[in-house]
Amino acid sequence: MIKAIYPGSFDPVTNGHLDIIKRASKFVDVLVVGILDNPNKHCLFTSEERKELIKIVTKDIPNVEVESFYGLLTDFAKEINASLIIRGIRDTNDFAVEFQRSITNKQLNSDIETVCLIADEKNLILSSTAVKEVAIFGGDIDWMVPKEITGYVKEKYNK
Ligand code: PNS
Repeated sequence: MIKAIYPGSFDPVTNGHLDIIKRASKFVDVLVVGILDNPNKHCLFTSEERKELIKIVTKDIPNVEVESFYGLLTDFAKEINASLIIRGIRDTNDFAVEFQRSITNKQLNSDIETVCLIADEKNLILSSTAVKEVAIFGGDIDWMVPKEITGYVKEKYNK
């Protein structure tokens, strides 16, 4: 059985993240979306909220689970028996970062492989940061995040 982890901050989950989740869930038995719960990083959504949002958009994908983790990714992967790390790549900047991360993670646990998926062309410029930058000034984010998520992001900035 192949169990994989797709880690990230997901603050909030974007169309790009969801595309990677859908594609990865087709070639593994179980895909755990792992939300990094970093108390030192200021996030728009709490890790519990991010978890709920990902659960909402993945509710129709039966082999997807959602968990939060704190600490090293390789430690969490081992704890849940995941043998693959999934990451999405949008451009050469992402490649450079993921290249280094995969080597670091391999050094930390050589049993865990990293698999990078190239982002779909319609998602190449999407990021959670861009979503927040547009939303804070009331811009249209419908094209950036799953339709179920739009209201939650807008609500954060209306408070
Ligand atoms: O969504 P992001 O911010 O690109 O996700 C980054 C993430 C969570 C994958 C990365 O920061 C991570 O793996 N953090 C856990 C700490 C860790 O294991 N670091 C060593 C490998 S670089």
